[in-house]
Amino acid sequence: MPACCTMRAKASDMHSKDCVKVAVRVRPFNKRERDAGSRCIVSMVSSSITIQDPREPQSRRSFCFDYAYWSHSGFARDRCGLYVPEEPGGRYADQDSVFQDLGEGILENALQGYNATLLAYGQTGSGKSYSMVGYGPNKGLVPKLCDRLFQAIKENQDTRQCQVFFSMLEIYNEQVVDLLSRGSRTPGGLRVREEQQRGFYVEGLRTVPCDSAPQVEQLMEQGTRTRTTAATHMNANSSRSHMLIILQLKQIFSKESITKQSNINLVDLAGSERQRSSGSEADRLKEGTAINLSLTTLGNVISSLADVAVGRKVVHIPYRDSVLTKLLQSALGGNSRTVMIATLSPADICYEESLSTLRYAERAKRIQNRAVVNESPTERLVKELKAENARLLQRLSRLGQEGRRANDETKELRQLLTHNELQIRAIQTLWEQHLQEALKDWEQQYANITQERRMMQMHPYILNINEDAQLSGVVKLFIQEGEWDIGLCDSSPTSISIKGLGIQERHAGFRNEQRRVTLTPLAGSKVIINGNAVSQTTELQHLDRLILGSNCTYLFIGYPSERGGDDWSRYDYDYFQSEVAAAEGIHLGESSAGSSQTDPSLLAVFYDYIKLMPMVAEANQMSQELNKGVEFKLEIKNLALSDSKGHDLEKEIVVRVTSTGRKQVWMWYKAKFVNRKFLMEEAYQQHQAEKSGDDRVEGLSTTALPRDKDPFWDPVEPLLLGTAHLWLQSLAFRIPLEEQLEVLGPEGTEEAILQAQLVPCSSTGLPLGEDDILIDPSELLGRRLDFQLVLEQCCGLRWIREARNRGVQIGFRLLDCGQPLYSPAVWHNVNPLLDHRVHFASLHTSQRLLDYLQSSAVVLELWGLQEGCTDLISSLEGVRMTTEGIFIIEEAGPTDTAPVDSADSSCSVRALQQDVEELKSVNASLRKENNSLREQLNAARNGGETARGRSVRPSCDAEFARALKVFYHSMTSVKGQLQRLRRHRPSEESDLLGFRLFVDEQSRLLRDFSEQLEQSVSTLKQDVAAIVRRKRERSGIWS
Ligand SMILES: Nc1ncnc2c1ncn2[C@@H]1O[C@H](COP(=O)(O)OP(=O)(O)OP(=O)(O)O)[C@@H](O)[C@H]1O
Ligand SMILES: [Mg+2]
Repeated sequence: MPACCTMRAKASDMHSKDCVKVAVRVRPFNKRERDAGSRCIVSMVSSSITIQDPREPQSRRSFCFDYAYWSHSGFARDRCGLYVPEEPGGRYADQDSVFQDLGEGILENALQGYNATLLAYGQTGSGKSYSMVGYGPNKGLVPKLCDRLFQAIKENQDTRQCQVFFSMLEIYNEQVVDLLSRGSRTPGGLRVREEQQRGFYVEGLRTVPCDSAPQVEQLMEQGTRTRTTAATHMNANSSRSHMLIILQLKQIFSKESITKQSNINLVDLAGSERQRSSGSEADRLKEGTAINLSLTTLGNVISSLADVAVGRKVVHIPYRDSVLTKLLQSALGGNSRTVMIATLSPADICYEESLSTLRYAERAKRIQNRAVVNESPTERLVKELKAENARLLQRLSRLGQEGRRANDETKELRQLLTHNELQIRAIQTLWEQHLQEALKDWEQQYANITQERRMMQMHPYILNINEDAQLSGVVKLFIQEGEWDIGLCDSSPTSISIKGLGIQERHAGFRNEQRRVTLTPLAGSKVIINGNAVSQTTELQHLDRLILGSNCTYLFIGYPSERGGDDWSRYDYDYFQSEVAAAEGIHLGESSAGSSQTDPSLLAVFYDYIKLMPMVAEANQMSQELNKGVEFKLEIKNLALSDSKGHDLEKEIVVRVTSTGRKQVWMWYKAKFVNRKFLMEEAYQQHQAEKSGDDRVEGLSTTALPRDKDPFWDPVEPLLLGTAHLWLQSLAFRIPLEEQLEVLGPEGTEEAILQAQLVPCSSTGLPLGEDDILIDPSELLGRRLDFQLVLEQCCGLRWIREARNRGVQIGFRLLDCGQPLYSPAVWHNVNPLLDHRVHFASLHTSQRLLDYLQSSAVVLELWGLQEGCTDLISSLEGVRMTTEGIFIIEEAGPTDTAPVDSADSSCSVRALQQDVEELKSVNASLRKENNSLREQLNAARNGGETARGRSVRPSCDAEFARALKVFYHSMTSVKGQLQRLRRHRPSEESDLLGFRLFVDEQSRLLRDFSEQLEQSVSTLKQDVAAIVRRKRERSGIWS
């Protein structure tokens, strides 16, 4: 009996400290990472792992763990679908090799009578479930462990009798859900209790006796199914939940009269990034329960224990702060041999998350446990009963030997003996009974599964697709011949029951006739097929994608004859959502997706969009059902906006929230929306529980939620509606500028027309005249420059047209530094007069300032005010002003002279710059000529007639300045044309006709642009030529 020998050998270190063992594993790139052209930033040598900062390639961090698994590259898929090393002995770590190290160790510990725990930690999608549970033929640690456990039990059956109990639970939002429960879900979840002997445990958790690996696998399948349906019903996100499998192993060594009991906890933790990027920091409503209190507390417990291990003083280890840490108390710092597998994405875009996972794992490595071999109290009772019986028998025989007539005593002793024996038998048969019951149950389930497999070969069906790949393909709903209603209703024999947000009693009808299946949405219900909303009867084709209600996603599987050998795996959750996004006009386009040229930031925006899209649909549905009168809509912030240099601003997904009644509007960033959505789910579930008359749920009623706790509401704030650019170039020449500016919203809509001016002026505010126009801006160097920004009027304000109880303000920030200044608020008027004038001055104009003026614009921000919000106030902190109230600007912030990014526009700009340079040199020689002319003139007229000369004939400088003024004015409209060109994109519906129209329009715009550009430059050239000619003529006369 080899196992027993090992047990004894190890018994000597029963009370020694065991460090938590830590393994890391790196998975292959996923589709998103491949699309983004990601780079692998992780490398491994033996058990050490190095991660490189993609922004600073010199910066590397190395970590050493007990095991490091390279599952990123060097693998091939064999005929059974198993991922194996490309060549024998290759470095790729497959599921088998991970099990060899980690699984076998856990098994051995459990067989020795130690408690054992395996935790999988890592960001969402990093491969936790792949390692723990596995996918298809690539079985993970849990099924492999069960396989080997029952094999070991069989091998050792001569020496011990073994009992295995299986439980499976989920912790979501601090509620424990029994995944094997046959009854309906306990509202509020199961209770976690504490007992002196047992520690923390889940009260009423179903523990199923098992005696084979297939039985366990079937239970896991059942648990996963419960998890999937619960996630859809509760509209919960599974990657926020923790899944725990508890295997209890009891080994009875009758010969040695020893019983050993060990608990094996197998934990697939929630995605780790949730706890940091939950966005609650920026939100008024900090999540009361935290999106994942359990995960945060786990981190705190691990940190505290790591501190203890290095001798730091720790007063309190916060096990009791969350459900998960209560249940894992013995696994962390207690009586358990514990292993953590930390899973990583290899991609540069996941650097922050991966580094944080590695740091977490490093802390976990320090934790010291004290594992002991466990003896079960129940078995001690049997032992004690047996011992008592032995004593009783001894006493009986003594009584017999003494020959004393002690009838009463003998009778009493015999009764006691029988009672004890019955008790022993009861304890021993209990297991048998439980096992028999479980087996019967199992047979029933097994029959159901066989039946389901048969149905799959006979009928078309719809297959659930979940955001978590682990929960996809779990639910199959068959569409047999005839007519079927699909919806919440489950009473009729011809109905297919589904639950989920936005699903109606009778949602849609399926008809299966002559091997053709059609789907007819019923009035008022949402049905999307292959990305498009449908309201008519539609015939379904094999592998059509259906979204019912807000977000119940299914893949339609046709009759077996239609199926062929196609790969269904590409129709994952992202595929469904991308299709819907494409229908809304948001897509990457076939050519750009997958190419390394896709701009990573655009890609991130795209994935954010498709991630938030279903959440927004769900939020809208909840708002509707809870009567909140709030609508959510996704927007891409900065889609059409640019910075003061005209460079595109970084795009970001935001959610526009509108209260339909009072027309209030909020903009929520992604993190805030995700946080709010979680709180909305809570409120919604509460409402559902109340609706079903359940009074066990504690807390606030949703209808009675006070404003400050309402996740659908926020105090109103001013809203950035759009921006306009007022280019500063003319100031460098002291040329006044008057403009009608188009204020563009984030998505390119025209929000208003803004009349604004830049007026070069004297230090007292008097406008300068034409004679003050400069030909060469460098003349300003070291001198004072004064000018006024005048905001005259706003016209056609869309914001006010939509609701009259609103107002606007204009915000602007000069030279990209300091606080923004705001014009006074104007209310209720679609065309309000602003009449706002601000005087700026540079006391010593620097080259940087000149460069800045020549290449930048002041970005005028249009802010929308709503009833109940306070006006924006200019903060004068850090702003320098003269006593006359003139704002002093010294120089630009960082000089950023990066050229405009788009290729054709940068060419044009370069050509323009060349022209300007040439003109400058012409100008310089003209100035020289001019000066010498002046000198000649002065000499000829002895100084008396200078003034007359100047006033009669405009100087060449003034002529030249006027020409430049004309040029800069025309350049403003050229710039506007360029902006329009850059914003012009094809419509996403783009059929061939649409695309042709786009191309025509595009070439028209380009033609206009180049015509305007050429005209401006040629007018300037003609003007300059005329000036030169005139000058030569004049010099001819006077010389
Ligand atoms: N080692 C690996 N080899 C091949 N594919 C992998 C590996 N690890 C993960 N994957 C794939 O990556 C995807 C995400 O993995 P998985 O579902 O295990 O992530 P997770 O960490 O459990 O995420 P969540 O937190 O959302 O539950 C799956 O499609 C899975 O098949
Ligand atoms: Mg998972």
